[in-house]
Amino acid sequence: MTTLLITGTNKGVGLELTKIYAARGDTVYAACRNPAEAEALKAIEGDVKIVEVVVGDSASVTAMAASLEGVAIDVVVNNAGMAGPSFDQQTTYAMDFEGWAETFNVNSMGPVRVMQALLPNLRSGTEAKVVTITSQMGALSLDMVAAHAYCASKAAINKFMRMASIDLKKEDIAVGLIHPGWVQTDMGGPRADLTPLESAEGVAAVIDQLSLSNTGGFWKWNGETHDW
Ligand SMILES: NC(=O)c1ccc[n+]([C@@H]2O[C@H](COP(=O)([O-])OP(=O)(O)OC[C@H]3O[C@@H](n4cnc5c(N)ncnc54)[C@H](OP(=O)(O)O)[C@@H]3O)[C@@H](O)[C@H]2O)c1
Repeated sequence: MTTLLITGTNKGVGLELTKIYAARGDTVYAACRNPAEAEALKAIEGDVKIVEVVVGDSASVTAMAASLEGVAIDVVVNNAGMAGPSFDQQTTYAMDFEGWAETFNVNSMGPVRVMQALLPNLRSGTEAKVVTITSQMGALSLDMVAAHAYCASKAAINKFMRMASIDLKKEDIAVGLIHPGWVQTDMGGPRADLTPLESAEGVAAVIDQLSLSNTGGFWKWNGETHDW
């Protein structure tokens, strides 16, 4: 059985990932901002332990890690993310700079905060992995012009995690990046291609195939390699 910590689990892709692992019989530390209001999480049957974390807040991440001291974690899934300022305020011509900074704080620094805080847990895990749910919109190869702050935040975490994969391979910890598809969540909207369950099933399959032999990869939810 695997022990995972997943962020952003109260809804969307993170909620479906939590259901999938709980159904497999795994232990899931399901992290979210407001455990008291996480009704869908509380309804999941299985070994789901709800923990509080605000990934944009270092003190919150440190407190979460302290509450997990001594717990071996095999897989950390950095899933929490935000779309950033209104799309007309994150363009070439107009930028909500405070909003961009918060987007960077959550999408780019959040996964690093969580990863660093949980390294002691990962070091005592089995076949340890750090997975970050990024986006095709962070790929330099995709000339889609929209949501500049969001895209830049995902490009930044892609680069960071690629470098982290090289460092952490020496510690037998695999690192991967996954684009979950365009998903019908609060972020993706109702017209998106995939249901949250379809996306999460694909993401879980990609996480299964991540190992030290392919560490540092960037994949789509369907298992295809993603261009950088
Ligand atoms: N949906 C898509 O089409 C799509 C496409 C590409 C990539 N992605 C990525 O997939 C991941 C999951 O997104 P989703 O579609 O499932 O979106 P979602 O339904 O909007 O869920 C986002 C999750 O992130 C959490 N979150 C946001 N800011 C946070 C913070 N500062 N601290 C802690 N948690 C925070 C949210 O918590 P609250 O409910 O408390 O806000 C929620 O649990 C994100 O990283 C996103 O960028 C999504």
